[in-house]
Amino acid sequence: MINGTVVYFAISLASMLFSFGIAASAQQCSSFCVCDTWYDLERASCVGRHLYNIHTGAPDNVQALDLSDNVISVLTSFELANIGFTRLKYLNLSKNAISEIDLNAFDGLTDLMVMDLSRNRLNDISAEVFERNKNLRILKLSKNNFKSHIPKLRSSSLTELSLDSCQISHLPLDTFNGLKHLRRLDLANNLMIQMNAIAVQTLHFLQKLSLEGNPWSCDKIMVDLQMYLRNNGIEFDEICSKKGNVRKFEKMIVLPTMTRNYHRSKVANPKETKQRTNRIEMESNILNNKTLSTCQETASPTPVTDSEDNYSVAYWFLILGFILGILSRLVISYIWLLGVYLCNRRYSVERFNSGFIISREQSLLSLNGRMENDGSLSEFYPNTPPPAYRDVMLQPSLYRYPSRVSNLNRDR
Ligand SMILES: *[C@@H]1O[C@H](CO)[C@@H](O)[C@H](O)[C@H]1NC(C)=O
Ligand SMILES: *[C@@H]1O[C@H](CO)[C@@H](O)[C@H](O)[C@H]1NC(C)=O
Repeated sequence: MINGTVVYFAISLASMLFSFGIAASAQQCSSFCVCDTWYDLERASCVGRHLYNIHTGAPDNVQALDLSDNVISVLTSFELANIGFTRLKYLNLSKNAISEIDLNAFDGLTDLMVMDLSRNRLNDISAEVFERNKNLRILKLSKNNFKSHIPKLRSSSLTELSLDSCQISHLPLDTFNGLKHLRRLDLANNLMIQMNAIAVQTLHFLQKLSLEGNPWSCDKIMVDLQMYLRNNGIEFDEICSKKGNVRKFEKMIVLPTMTRNYHRSKVANPKETKQRTNRIEMESNILNNKTLSTCQETASPTPVTDSEDNYSVAYWFLILGFILGILSRLVISYIWLLGVYLCNRRYSVERFNSGFIISREQSLLSLNGRMENDGSLSEFYPNTPPPAYRDVMLQPSLYRYPSRVSNLNRDR
């Protein structure tokens, strides 16, 4: 496994240096964007510029346009095509504020292959929006708020769709009927309790279905779904078994070797035209791999827990409870002993001074705090005023310090 990670890091380092090399040759193409070549594509990156529409001044021959991390909120019909972005293959609109996409917004972008609309404010998308983008392969709609309006998209070319973290709670059975060529579908981290196998039965090319991070109820419908997926060789995370943690661990080991394979296949591929399209797919596959693995990390508090974990937790609770019990008993007995001691002491004092207790209570009002400086009685009754002068005079034998009492008399 260590070997695998070393290779993985070496590859990612190499690719980082590669992209720095490309960035060094980048030039300014509009005041908002940076233009360069990226996987043989002319790219304009206009990231994080507070743009509120797509009019960036980028040259219209760009093939990759990155508008992520801006504040674009609406995409109107033919907007992109009217600017002239008709050669786009890659369009990244992630991390904007898009809440509305008009029906013909992406018309004219016939080469578009990768589209990222994740992290926006979409509540709804009309079914036909991507219908005329005949080359669209990858569509990311993660982290929007579809809730119950999960889009019933129609796209015969789409192979990869991400709908994770979209607060989807219910999946109508015909949701994916218009996506015949879907290979990867990500529904992780939503709010679904059940999913009927019928919803994916029209997807004859499905290879992977991500379902983790949903509050699944493991009833017959879910068992049937898992059976269907298993029988059709579709990769998915075991959702109703206790081995969830083990599977996650397996994935961590598998990931680096997959990346290595990708690297080899890229080198081995001789055809240049094919290479170009492949690279885009590979790139987004890797991105997807990363997002997937991070999703799996964030999805760790799933209801599925390992039984061994449960046992160790129980042991800890037992030990903790035992220690707490002993401690609390110690504290209680200490308090009790203290109470007994104080009571005894108070009782003896009371017996000694029993004469003035009643009178003290009777004379609280007549005192006016004159004896505040006299510590003789507050020694036994802290914070209580001394008895009235009358009692002191009438029963002097009850008081321990006659000399001070005579001082009082003098005060008067
Ligand atoms: C789009 O841009 C965001 C933020 O810059 C990035 O995280 C994401 O991977 C990009 N999407 C694709 C498909 O490249
Ligand atoms: C990662 O991407 C490769 C494509 O290069 C793919 O074969 C593999 O299944 C992906 N792995 C995951 C976990 O998505």
